[in-house]
Amino acid sequence: MTINIGIVGAGNISARYMQGLQNFPELSVKYIADVDHDRAAALATEFSVTASGGTGALLADEGIDVVINLTPPNLHASTVIQALEAGKSVYVEKPLATNREDALLMLKAERENPGILGSAPDTFLGSAGQTARHAMDAGLIGTPIGASAFVRSSRAETWHPNPGFLFEQGGGPVMDMGPYYIAALVNCLGPIRRVSAEARIGSPTRTVTAPDRTVDEVPVSVNTHASAVFSFESGAIGTILMSFDVWDTTLPRIEIYGTEGTLSLNDPNTFDGDVRLKRREHSEWQVLEPVTPLFGAVGTSEQHRRGLGVNDLAGALSGHPHRANSAFAFHVLDAMLAIDESAAAGQPIVLESRAERPAPLFPS
Ligand SMILES: NC(=O)c1ccc[n+]([C@@H]2O[C@H](COP(=O)([O-])OP(=O)(O)OC[C@H]3O[C@@H](n4cnc5c(N)ncnc54)[C@H](O)[C@@H]3O)[C@@H](O)[C@H]2O)c1
Repeated sequence: MTINIGIVGAGNISARYMQGLQNFPELSVKYIADVDHDRAAALATEFSVTASGGTGALLADEGIDVVINLTPPNLHASTVIQALEAGKSVYVEKPLATNREDALLMLKAERENPGILGSAPDTFLGSAGQTARHAMDAGLIGTPIGASAFVRSSRAETWHPNPGFLFEQGGGPVMDMGPYYIAALVNCLGPIRRVSAEARIGSPTRTVTAPDRTVDEVPVSVNTHASAVFSFESGAIGTILMSFDVWDTTLPRIEIYGTEGTLSLNDPNTFDGDVRLKRREHSEWQVLEPVTPLFGAVGTSEQHRRGLGVNDLAGALSGHPHRANSAFAFHVLDAMLAIDESAAAGQPIVLESRAERPAPLFPS
């Protein structure tokens, strides 16, 4: 069955969707919309999409089944609700929203309209996320006891010409990179029950050194260094460090510790990559064979392509499990927001949301 798609937001990441969607012939992009019609038209021309223009025309087109929403995070709620109310299913980039109230309105709109809502991050659907999940489900590390996750992308001002948005509310290491790490943890360990955290601003301004900079300095109004403890419903304990203030480190990105061994995960901002296992009887780390096909192998030009989550949503429309679904994305957002809230309140935050581990993609 062909699924007709409209894209809203023809910015930075949109070409990576257009490239990635070419892996799925039944997903056909028919319309590209942007407030900047010229930008929409340029992307349409580049990828031979026949129609482009404004969001209103896209939503009025009854032939469009699914909207991919690639607008900035603070516009996700309004644009997603508009599309759901127009009868479309929607896949939205991460984070689902920038606050809980907006996200709850999005979930309400999904419940009250015929379409379904999916959201990035979808990287846990890649071969590495699935291989890690398989290792957990197969008991390769025994009973999980703890995990560590370490976000360490601290150099935006050295390459981004105008990185101010990363240092304002809605940015910061937790909201910008946290979704990938938390989604990977929930995929492997299940839902988070409680979050305890400390967080702070590293320095009040950042000096921009990018060679093509349009600003010399940006103010910092979001916490740039956060240290959290996640208590998972399963009893596992996560040690979480998310920082834009770590200039170098030898810490790994994600590890999961079990009674029988340790699992070391890939960069969760990629679909593929090495997942390594060291059991108590091993003298060396073993790289696990991927359990599902590669989507964009690390080190290739396809590494940053997007589209697995859209394919997941399309599958859900024909009765398959919806993995990168709105409840999962909301739980990830809930945990991210709880980091700042716990730090501000000086006490743990018990999460009200809950999400099941998404169904695995590998055969059982
Ligand atoms: N750029 C990346 O590397 C990257 C990576 C992962 C996720 N994301 C996510 O993808 C989304 C988009 O990011 P981006 O970097 O492409 O942003 P961007 O600012 O480059 O592009 C956003 C586009 O949306 C358009 N737009 C704004 N308001 C609109 C509206 N009301 N209706 C229609 N179009 C509108 C803008 O004109 C712009 O072209 C964000 O949620 C971001 O978190 C981006």
